[in-house]
Amino acid sequence: MEQLTIRGGARGPQGSMTVPGDKSISHRAIILGALAEGVTEVSGCLRSEDCQRTLGAFRALGVEAEGWEGDILRIYGKGLRGLREAADTLNCGNSGTTIRLLAGVLAGQPFLSLLTGDASLRRRPMDRIIHPLTQMGAEIWGRARDTLPPLAVRGGSLHGVTYRCPVPSAQVKSAILLAGLFAEGPTTVIEPAASRDHTERMLTAYGQRVERSEQEVTLIPAGTLQATPISVPGDFSSAAFLLVAGLILPDSDLTIEGVGVNPTRTGLLDVLQAMGAKVQVFPVDAETGEPRAHLRVRASRLQGVSIGGDLIPRLIDEIPVLAVAAACAEGKTVIRDAAELRVKESDRIRTIAAELSRMGVRTEELPDGLIIHGGRRLQGARCEGHGDHRVAMALTVAGLQAEGQTIVRDTACIRTSFPGFVETLEHLFPNVLERRG
Ligand code: S3P
Repeated sequence: MEQLTIRGGARGPQGSMTVPGDKSISHRAIILGALAEGVTEVSGCLRSEDCQRTLGAFRALGVEAEGWEGDILRIYGKGLRGLREAADTLNCGNSGTTIRLLAGVLAGQPFLSLLTGDASLRRRPMDRIIHPLTQMGAEIWGRARDTLPPLAVRGGSLHGVTYRCPVPSAQVKSAILLAGLFAEGPTTVIEPAASRDHTERMLTAYGQRVERSEQEVTLIPAGTLQATPISVPGDFSSAAFLLVAGLILPDSDLTIEGVGVNPTRTGLLDVLQAMGAKVQVFPVDAETGEPRAHLRVRASRLQGVSIGGDLIPRLIDEIPVLAVAAACAEGKTVIRDAAELRVKESDRIRTIAAELSRMGVRTEELPDGLIIHGGRRLQGARCEGHGDHRVAMALTVAGLQAEGQTIVRDTACIRTSFPGFVETLEHLFPNVLERRG
């Protein structure tokens, strides 16, 4: 099993750097590129295990692509009616985005598809997509009374629906909108709070008619998707680990360039600023409808905060590393309305609370969040990544600040979203990290 050993007490990072492409946007570029007419050129497409699963699935459905080893991934679109039945099960690995968005596409295909994934993915709820997609006319079966993968999808002729999502989820919203491309009539999704809107933005870039207000989106399908070049910004969720490292380590002054700052993703910036963080945002440009900026972070004294409500979907993936910032802040941080954390790659409420307490942090688990009592120096410890990339990376950042040595076990999962994470840290923090296994 892969593990990282981190020598604590690191000096803060200096200089400037970039992070790999945005994972959510990369998945969507592959999917819409595969369904478009013509060739989609994607620059900066994240080459992580999760995105490779999405491309692998489309290859199995007859789509060709090349060039990912270089700067530009070229996807030869098959058009909306050009996919063919795969000869085998589609393995989505660890990727919730792959299985849920793919299920939306396959709901509109006149053939049978079988989807599975790793042990973590096979524990994640799929009824949230099965309900709306079956309402649209698809037939979908799953394990545990149609709630868990593997899934069998027999697509067919779909009709548009108006669907009220019980949870704010971009994966659910996107699965429904993608199915809507194949449906008769408009498809509307209403969410309890706004989730990330990359699908809506990219559908517009591909020539679809999308009408939106904050919590409601309607797709009026416009026939074909026209291929368009896509430029993927740096992943804010990857940058978040370096931002927090910059805040909690002494003497930092780090600039992360070209990071996506879509407001549905940057809730962490709002919270960190409320905690007293010195983070500056320098907007650069917007390509493919996605804003980007350079982010400058300096070492800061942080104060605990209370967060919840509509802010949570805007920082849901950043809560593991926010918890590390909270552990280094003065006072108490309370995170509520985040029960969705329980159905991520691990039960993140449980795993974060358990692992930070190994490092000497007093934590309290709540049904929908956690309380972190900050202010004490973190203690190096033996920690588990639980096969969850964001937990493993958050603990690695915590280890940089801790007194003594930290071992994080089960870290191979980091490649699902941030290939080069270890190399990046080795560059920023020479002689601090050792990788084994
Ligand atoms: C994602 C949506 C979010 C997020 C995940 C990526 C996406 O999941 O946590 O990492 O790309 O649509 P939910 O839709 O389950 O909230």
